[in-house]
Amino acid sequence: MLAKIEQLLQEIDGLTAHSAEELEALRIKYLSKKGAINELMADFRSVPAEQKKEVGMKLNELKNKAQERIAALKEAFESQDNGTDGLDLTRTAYPVELGTRHPLSIVRNEIINIFSRLGFTIADGPEVEDDWHVFSSMNFPEDHPARDMQDTFFIESHPDILLRTHTSSVQSRVMEVSQPPIRVICPGRVYRNEAISYRAHCFFHQVEGLYIDKNVSFTDLKQVLLQFAQEMFGPETKIRLRPSYFPFTEPSAEMDISCDICGGKGCPFCKYTGWVEILGCGMVDPAVLEANGIDSKVYTGYAFGMGVERITNLKYKVKDLRMFSENDTRFLKEFEAAN
Ligand code: PHE
Repeated sequence: MLAKIEQLLQEIDGLTAHSAEELEALRIKYLSKKGAINELMADFRSVPAEQKKEVGMKLNELKNKAQERIAALKEAFESQDNGTDGLDLTRTAYPVELGTRHPLSIVRNEIINIFSRLGFTIADGPEVEDDWHVFSSMNFPEDHPARDMQDTFFIESHPDILLRTHTSSVQSRVMEVSQPPIRVICPGRVYRNEAISYRAHCFFHQVEGLYIDKNVSFTDLKQVLLQFAQEMFGPETKIRLRPSYFPFTEPSAEMDISCDICGGKGCPFCKYTGWVEILGCGMVDPAVLEANGIDSKVYTGYAFGMGVERITNLKYKVKDLRMFSENDTRFLKEFEAAN
């Protein structure tokens, strides 16, 4: 009897099953009422009394081992056979959260869209720039306050290298490698050394535009800006130009649009003037054309520049500039519909 038990123990060690049927056959063979182990149990009565203890223990060991082996085969067989790599395919599908475009990207794209329909192409340039492209080529005098450390971030070890304070540097880069007609817009991030508050940040975004050709006039500038304002803020929008000063344009102007909250009647938003400022513009100063290799006796041009944050604030009434860089998803989600 002990020999028979030993033989079965070895057999069980080597058992394998490749299907549910094979597994069931093994269970019947060893563990069912008429199986091999139960047969031995029945024979146990005839074992001599002095051997009962030893045979009994062996028999129990055999039964446990058979049960364990068959359970293990079942588990291995099931986990390999369901083909899901442990994924729970019965779990319900949950709604997948989609991201939303950032409000500044939405507005920047809209600006780009309007100007590309007017024939402008996009130009790009580095954010870490040199003095020439940001200031000197743009006709900034040597002692202009913008060149002060308080307004501009300089790279400490290289006094000539700085973070661009406006994307006019891209205009300079376009002029130095091409001849008119030039018609580009330059969207991008710019940096200024300002204390961060609800109305100022140390970086923001601009879109500047440049058009140079023969006979470009202030009338062309005004018409393009009117077209832009009406596409951006609605067909009823009026514009007005106020004389201003920039080193790189002459004459220069700042442009206001009629306040779209009160329709020009006057409200706290427009400080009861009926107008809100949206951009700077002017005719490119001949000195800038010359500094960038363009003959100012043959060509004239206009330029304009606007802050994307400013336009976004006006369009969506965002009161605090800091919201744009805080990545608060509750704020960003509000622009889902504008995507
Ligand atoms: N570069 C100016 C600024 O950053 C904007 C501007 C561009 C004004 C072109 C006039 C013409 O404020």
